[in-house]
Amino acid sequence: MARRKKLYEGKAKILYEGPEPGTLVQYFKDDATAFNAEKRAKIEGKGVLNNRMSEHFMTGLNAIGVPTHFIRRLNMREQLIRSVEMIPLEVVVRNVAAGSISTRLGMEEGTALPRPIVEFYLKDDKLGDPLVTDEHILAFNWATQQDLDDMVALGLRVNDFMSGLMYGVGIRLIDFKIEIGRIFEGDYQRLIVADEISPDSCRLWDAKSGQKLDKDVFRRDLGNLADAYTEVANRFGLIPKNAPPASGPKLVN
Ligand code: TMP
Ligand code: ASP
Repeated sequence: MARRKKLYEGKAKILYEGPEPGTLVQYFKDDATAFNAEKRAKIEGKGVLNNRMSEHFMTGLNAIGVPTHFIRRLNMREQLIRSVEMIPLEVVVRNVAAGSISTRLGMEEGTALPRPIVEFYLKDDKLGDPLVTDEHILAFNWATQQDLDDMVALGLRVNDFMSGLMYGVGIRLIDFKIEIGRIFEGDYQRLIVADEISPDSCRLWDAKSGQKLDKDVFRRDLGNLADAYTEVANRFGLIPKNAPPASGPKLVN
C-alpha cells in the first residue's frame, strides 16, 4: 500500500489519513516524554504494547456501550480509528491521591479520595496543560455545559469499567486521563472516547506490593518501563507465550 499521508504528529503517536472518509490511522511510537517533554527517551516496544492495550481497553468499552474512536487494530503499531473533532481538554479521573493532586493539595500519595474526582486540564504544551475549571471552559467556549456533563459521565463510566478490569488482574487504578472528541450524526453530535488508554495515561499500582506499573516508572526513574508495561499486558493475556522479553537482547531480523 502506498504510504499514507501524515496529518499530525504528537509526542507518542502519529495520525495518518484513513482508508475511507471519517477514518484515520493511529500509529504508536516508542517515544516516551514527561514533564512537558523536558524528559524524553525511546523505549523499545512501548508503541507495540500500548497499541495492543489500548485496543483491549477500548474494545471492552465499546462492548459495554461506552463509545470510543477505536475501530480495529491494523498491525503491531497501527489501529484504524474514527476521525473526531477533538475537545482541547484532558479529562482526569482520580480514585486515589497521587501526582499533581498530591503536590497541589498536600495530600500523601496513596490516600483514598472520598469519591472519584473529575478534573479538566487545558491541552496546551506551552502552558504545561494547566488545570481549568468549568467557568474557564464555558467562558472561553472550549466546550458547552452539555459537553461538560457528558465528559464527566464518560469519565466516570470509563473509571468504573477500567477499575473493575484492573481489579480483576490485581491492579489498582489510581487515576487516568482520557481525551474526548465529537462525532456528528445528522443533526446530532455525540462525544466519544478518543486518543488512547494505556499505562502512558493511567496510574496503575500492583494491588499487593504497590509496585508502579505505569509511566511513573519513567517519570521517576524507577526501573525499566517496557518491563512494567509488559507485566500489565501479560496479566490481560495480551502477549503470546513465546514472545521475546521486552527488555534485554534483541533478535536481529
Ligand atoms: P497528574 O497527577 O500529573 O495530574 O496526572 C494524572 C493522570 O493523568 C495520570 O494518570 C497521568 C495522566 N496524564 C497524562 O496522561 N498526560 C499528561 O500530560 C498528564 C499531566 C497526566
Ligand atoms: N505527557 C506529558 C509530557 O510529555 C506529561 C506526562 O505524561 O508526564 O510532557
